[in-house]
Amino acid sequence: MCGIVGYIGNKEAYPILIKGLHRLEYRGYDSAGVALISEDGDLKIYKSRGKVAELERIMQSKDTGGHVGIAHTRWATHGEPNDINAHPHYSESRNLAIIHNGIIENYALLKEALQANGYTFKSDTDSEVIVQLIEYIQNTNRCSLPEAVRRALRELVGAYAIAIIEKGNKTRIIAARKSSPLVVGIGQGEFFLASDATPIVEHTDKVVYLNNDEIADISLDHGLRIFDIDNNESDIDIKQLQLSISELEKGGYPHFMLKEIFEQPKTITDAIRGRVNVEMTNVVLSGVIDNKEIFINAKRIIIVACGTSWHAGLIGEYLIEDMCRIPVEVEYASEFRYRNPVINKGDIVIAISQSGETADTLAAVELAKSKGAFIFGICNVVGSSIARATDSGAYIHVGPEIGVASTKAFTGQVTVLMMLALTLGHHKGTISQEFYLDKIKHLCQLSEQIADILQLDNQIADLAKIFTYARNFLYLGRGYNYPAALEGALKLKEISYIHAEGYPIAEMKHGPIALIDSEMPTVVIATTDKIYEKTISNIQEIKARGGKIIAIINPDDNIVRKIADYIIEIPRTCEHLSPVLASVPLQLLAYYIAVYKGRDVDRPRNLAKSVTVE
Ligand code: AGP
Ligand code: GLU
Repeated sequence: MCGIVGYIGNKEAYPILIKGLHRLEYRGYDSAGVALISEDGDLKIYKSRGKVAELERIMQSKDTGGHVGIAHTRWATHGEPNDINAHPHYSESRNLAIIHNGIIENYALLKEALQANGYTFKSDTDSEVIVQLIEYIQNTNRCSLPEAVRRALRELVGAYAIAIIEKGNKTRIIAARKSSPLVVGIGQGEFFLASDATPIVEHTDKVVYLNNDEIADISLDHGLRIFDIDNNESDIDIKQLQLSISELEKGGYPHFMLKEIFEQPKTITDAIRGRVNVEMTNVVLSGVIDNKEIFINAKRIIIVACGTSWHAGLIGEYLIEDMCRIPVEVEYASEFRYRNPVINKGDIVIAISQSGETADTLAAVELAKSKGAFIFGICNVVGSSIARATDSGAYIHVGPEIGVASTKAFTGQVTVLMMLALTLGHHKGTISQEFYLDKIKHLCQLSEQIADILQLDNQIADLAKIFTYARNFLYLGRGYNYPAALEGALKLKEISYIHAEGYPIAEMKHGPIALIDSEMPTVVIATTDKIYEKTISNIQEIKARGGKIIAIINPDDNIVRKIADYIIEIPRTCEHLSPVLASVPLQLLAYYIAVYKGRDVDRPRNLAKSVTVE
């Protein structure tokens, strides 16, 4: 994963780089480092284990001068997170410095070959091999830096976004990418470089997204040039950024996660805006309408995703099968890509990804594409790699999600999947007009209903206090709320480090009920839908074994209210949208438990926001 950032221009590079690293810290925070070229052309690297704040502390006593630099925040793949393995890395002569995001799969072979030629390695990373190889090629072929980079990249197997600077060269940064994202920002006589646009937005709104196998030669003398690894020059396709800085700040909340939970009334409205008409009589997802025949004639839909997006995909399966009568399979992208799946022409693959950069999902998309499937993307980050690799798609439009635990993206994804199923079901004629209008009405109520749930903030915080002691948690749901239970459990484990499992409630008696005792809190989503009665029996079975029940119920519930130990009341909606509402109190519960346990909510240990490595 890792976040990389670079600057070249007439301003001091260091403050820009550090601020950029803070914005990218969601991508990894095992270590951080910066390389700067000083006024006299010297190349200096400073780096340290830990978060960006630690690097900043160290830099207080260092010379931070210089107008060109690169910086990195790491999520370790090769080599433990210590000072030495932190990026940037020097080349043998210390003439070059590199930052890298990705994995070099053939690094061991290359390292051996370079060692045989007298190159010594300081770190255990795969990344160091790249800079050593570039220097070796420079020395043996007497070629320019961009040419040496180009030749080196031809030897690499794996994924990379890299940036390189050279001692004595105050006017040039070379960058390149393959399967890891990289954006170049173009200012007035200055250039920015970053893993995504968030460090760039406050400096310029003109960006160029590098494509796979492209190399950017960024120079204050000749401007930006892009060429590929076969040396063909590419056109510069400048895009206008749509991000605003206020979207990237915490806005008075103690954590991004809480801010993002509270943004949901707005983000749901944003996801629906322009897709449902004001009369609430029609929903149009243009990515579906533009490819109506393909969707109507689809024999099968395969949804590929990871983590929270996979949970949204499970809800997508229920929605599409129910409303469109098309068989749907939901696959972990990481499994799908390696198991020789059967994909036929006429199949549609829907890739769901908040970041649009998840390596496994991107690889699954590429595999499905090569087998002739039509690819539809449901992404949040505009212009992201997955969004660009698809044939068509729909953005969820929930704005930047910075907290590592996904919240507003999940509710946005389910909302878009609902609109997809409604659009397709309506055009296929597999749902009645009455059903269609009723669901549109419920969609349009979601935003206000979430605002009502957010009023329960204090109640849920109090409840969280009671359960901070717990070492295990069960989350149970059924039908549309089974994936919501999985999502609730994932939220809790990733930010509080409490072990939690999600299950379909009726599966309890096939094993998990053995876990129940008075120490095991069980969260049950018991909304009054068509399987409400069955859920009540399952709750009784848990109670009979001394289990503590926290139940998510609807206002018209009279039974679970009396049996459960604690209740959280959420407004009633149709069963299809029930997981959107049910997930909100579960987000808050996980958030407050993690806060009471003193966890780093926005940057939980061992995780990173976008998983751009396998
Ligand atoms: C969610 O809370 C997780 N941090 C994680 O499971 C995430 O959903 C997963 O890595 C997929 O990311 P994507 O949606 O950006 O592809
Ligand atoms: N493989 C490199 C390292 O371990 C970069 C990791 C990454 O991009 O996540 O340092």
